[in-house]
Amino acid sequence: MTQDEMKRAAAEAAIEYVDGGIIGVGTGSTVNHFIDALARIKGRIEGAVSSSEASTERMKAHGIPVYDLNSTGGLALYVDGADESNKYLQLIKGGGGALTREKIVAGASERFVCIADESKLVDVLGEFPLPVEVIPMARSYVARELVKLGGTPVWREDFVTDNGNLILDVQGLRIMEPAKLEQRINAIPGVVTVGIFALRPADLLILGTPNGPRTIEP
Ligand code: A5P
Repeated sequence: MTQDEMKRAAAEAAIEYVDGGIIGVGTGSTVNHFIDALARIKGRIEGAVSSSEASTERMKAHGIPVYDLNSTGGLALYVDGADESNKYLQLIKGGGGALTREKIVAGASERFVCIADESKLVDVLGEFPLPVEVIPMARSYVARELVKLGGTPVWREDFVTDNGNLILDVQGLRIMEPAKLEQRINAIPGVVTVGIFALRPADLLILGTPNGPRTIEP
């Protein structure tokens, strides 16, 4: 089974948790499979709140109505991928650069179902370079502060987020206390969001494996 087939299997398993209403939808190749599956049952939902322009475009192409979070209030369900998850379902996200809107929609949702292939489950977060969205004028300052925390930030050149900001990918971190580091990095002036999702972890992780989808709760 390829990695993409495992992503698709996890995404299709998440459809089981869709129970009408307006669904929060994340970003990435795994979520793209979820959007395609959601399109098949679109008559059962009212629509979606999207975490990126890319997901919005894909949903609109499928005829799924996309709503502004300001007009929907809280959501019952958010479905999104991850770049890494530990067994507590604390995540690294932002490989696709959509971390800020993802964190907002996750925060506004009662239940966060994370979908991924099995390679994303790790013992310690940090092997995947940690994305940090920064205000453009703060890029060098934030990078110096991240070096003080033991990381090696690399500017994701030629990339601008949907919010008009930049991304630093921080290599070389072994994140032993994800919630603490999330708070610490978020407190650096100029940081918009760090891609650690520990203060609001996922509630359920569906992992695609060669033996079928495996469900993990913290
Ligand atoms: C997007 O910014 C990320 O947070 C994605 O959720 C993450 O990169 C997972 O992407 P894939 O589903 O493509 O692996």
